[in-house]
Amino acid sequence: MKATVKANTNIALIKYWGKRDEKLFLPMNSSLSITLDKFYTTTTVEFDEYFESDIFLLNNRVAGTKESSKVFNFLDKIRELAGTKMRARVRALNNVPTAAGLASSASGFAALAAAGAKALNLKLDERELSILARQGSGSACRSIYGGFVEWQKGVETDGSDSYATQLLPEQRWNISILSVLVASKEKKVSSREGMKNTVETSPFYSGWLNTVEDDLKNAKEAIRARDFQRLGNVVEANALKMHATMLGAKPPILYWQGGTVEVIHHIQYMRTCGFSAYFTIDAGPNVKVLCPPEEERRMYEELLKLPAVEEILVCHPGSGIQYI
Ligand code: DP6
Repeated sequence: MKATVKANTNIALIKYWGKRDEKLFLPMNSSLSITLDKFYTTTTVEFDEYFESDIFLLNNRVAGTKESSKVFNFLDKIRELAGTKMRARVRALNNVPTAAGLASSASGFAALAAAGAKALNLKLDERELSILARQGSGSACRSIYGGFVEWQKGVETDGSDSYATQLLPEQRWNISILSVLVASKEKKVSSREGMKNTVETSPFYSGWLNTVEDDLKNAKEAIRARDFQRLGNVVEANALKMHATMLGAKPPILYWQGGTVEVIHHIQYMRTCGFSAYFTIDAGPNVKVLCPPEEERRMYEELLKLPAVEEILVCHPGSGIQYI
């Protein structure tokens, strides 16, 4: 009763920011992402009736209590679906540089959901897997699919209509995504805490909710038309708006470092020189830059010249989960 799955992480173009149900990981708003090709988690799950307790090995070491308990709670959900009490051994290898500010929880829970379900022979379809992965980490529901993916927030209280679907396969539109690393310190406020505080205390949160569905519509139309500039403009505006909601939280949350602002200004400057590069920023200081593949090399070289930039990792749209 063993299965191995590889799942890629994803980067949100229209952000998921805020939950309406913390237990079921139901979001306040729908979101849209690109699954990446280079950063992934490979997870093996083995259930056995002779195992006395669950064990979680992360990168070949027994994981800490916090990480382990998240995984064990998630295994409980899979066991409940399968009607079993069998304990499991989980072995996850992360190929996601944590410092890059890319969520390893997205690839981690997508891989765990698919490997766990397969090991117990659950025969879940992609929609059911997306619903399951969502309950480990919201953004994980999008990593089941490759390419451009939408997570519909849904309206049901049981979460049965809150899952992701693919908008466009990865082969259909190649764009370059540069993860620009400006600081290697681990982030202090997790996205989970950050979004919770924002929903509860920020007077700007209502402004987010009032406009995010329009941003999503705009982004979807841009993707359908392969209109890079239109997509870039809405992606950038959406990310800045998300960060603006946090500045209004109590206490305020500011993920940016000096280098973050330096990169933002440089991207804006490059646009005045005729480049079509746009940025997005998640719950951390690093900047992700989107540009057409033909501009990738120049953008890489230009951004690496900035004193605050430590490293740049280049990705493209990648595939959904793979059974190994
Ligand atoms: C800013 O999915 O990591 O990256 O559901 O609490 O596990 P939990 O949060 P998580 O949040 C991701 C937040 C974000 C935006 C996004 O990926 O849409």
